[in-house]
Amino acid sequence: MPESPIRKLVPFAEDAKKRGVDVIHLNIGQPDIKTPRVALDAVKNNDIEVLEYSRTEGTEAYRDKLTSYYKTRGIKIDSGDIVVTTGGSEALAFAMGCIADPDDEIIIPEPFYANYNGFATAHGIRVVPVASGMDTNFALPPLAQFESRITPKTRAILICNPGNPTGYLYSKDEIRQLAAMVKKHNLFLIADEVYREFTYDGKIHYSILQEEGMEQHAIMIDSVSKRYSMCGARIGCLVSRNMEIVRTAIKFAQARLSPPTFALLASEAALDTPQSYFDAVIEEYSSRRNHLIEDLRRVEGVQVAMPQGAFYCIAALPLEDAEKFARWLLEEFTYEGSTVMVAPAAGFYATEGLGRNEVRLAYVLQKERLRKAVRILDVALKTYKD
Ligand SMILES: Cc1ncc(COP(=O)(O)O)c(C=O)c1O
Repeated sequence: MPESPIRKLVPFAEDAKKRGVDVIHLNIGQPDIKTPRVALDAVKNNDIEVLEYSRTEGTEAYRDKLTSYYKTRGIKIDSGDIVVTTGGSEALAFAMGCIADPDDEIIIPEPFYANYNGFATAHGIRVVPVASGMDTNFALPPLAQFESRITPKTRAILICNPGNPTGYLYSKDEIRQLAAMVKKHNLFLIADEVYREFTYDGKIHYSILQEEGMEQHAIMIDSVSKRYSMCGARIGCLVSRNMEIVRTAIKFAQARLSPPTFALLASEAALDTPQSYFDAVIEEYSSRRNHLIEDLRRVEGVQVAMPQGAFYCIAALPLEDAEKFARWLLEEFTYEGSTVMVAPAAGFYATEGLGRNEVRLAYVLQKERLRKAVRILDVALKTYKD
């Protein structure tokens, strides 16, 4: 199993904290946004006497209510198209298990959410990357590059939209191009849409489930973790109109019995969260993004693409090995008692050597904290000897 590049520096951060250093975490996507009150209240105020297993694919009530939520996002599905999972993570693992046998291949534009590597490895699947780059803001690479990598073992193309770690939001046109390609080659298109709500500058997310003619090909991955700042609830889902996929995913789900019952209650209640909550959260993230990117662009030698969604960006640093630098930040450097923790980006690429000078930064902290973090990075880059 590959180690999570996001978590492998944690022991160094813990040591720094023990030495009294204030570590500013730009490395993980744990939002500081409050979970909606309705969700927390549903767990507090109930008269459950036996905390039973729930239904394998999630309660009827929750799946029904989810269909109404998706309708508000322009996605028309039935409750029978949904398998509720223990986080989007489990939905990703189920999706891979459903479509591929050991030695099969999945094509993924890189950089990508590093845990895709872990899920693929667990299923014996080979990840075949197609590189996207900072020069195009990490847009969809030309289709020819995907097509040149399709082999008899290719089962799917996996995208993350909006992207972690790139913040790139695929346009309707890009989704259409991908849809046409997977139909032509009879592949699945798996779209990880866990950041659907977080799009900026008035841009609108286009789901693969909105694209007609994709009934047999589309598998969508979702989660309450980011939408309602409920990462600890561990509820997500897999959605597909392809009933063979749904039936197979349910078999995987039966093996782990059920999703967590309390978290289901919270997730069902969270669906009553008013739009005003999202408006405020999106405004907050958008303003944090603007501050962070503006500040980073002022740091000598740093290059950063403008994210249009999610809450991450990839920054290229003026050095060779960002992992060494990230470790040095935690082990040897402080500025006015603080340092920053970043996620080295090489672990988000499958191609050896790519992303070595890049880091992923998450803007899930208050603006003042983000400002301070960039000041520290600036001084650190001037001090560091590569
Ligand atoms: C792109 C992406 N997909 C899936 C997940 C998994 O989320 P969870 O298992 O908390 O739903 C994450 C978590 O950070 C993510 O960034």
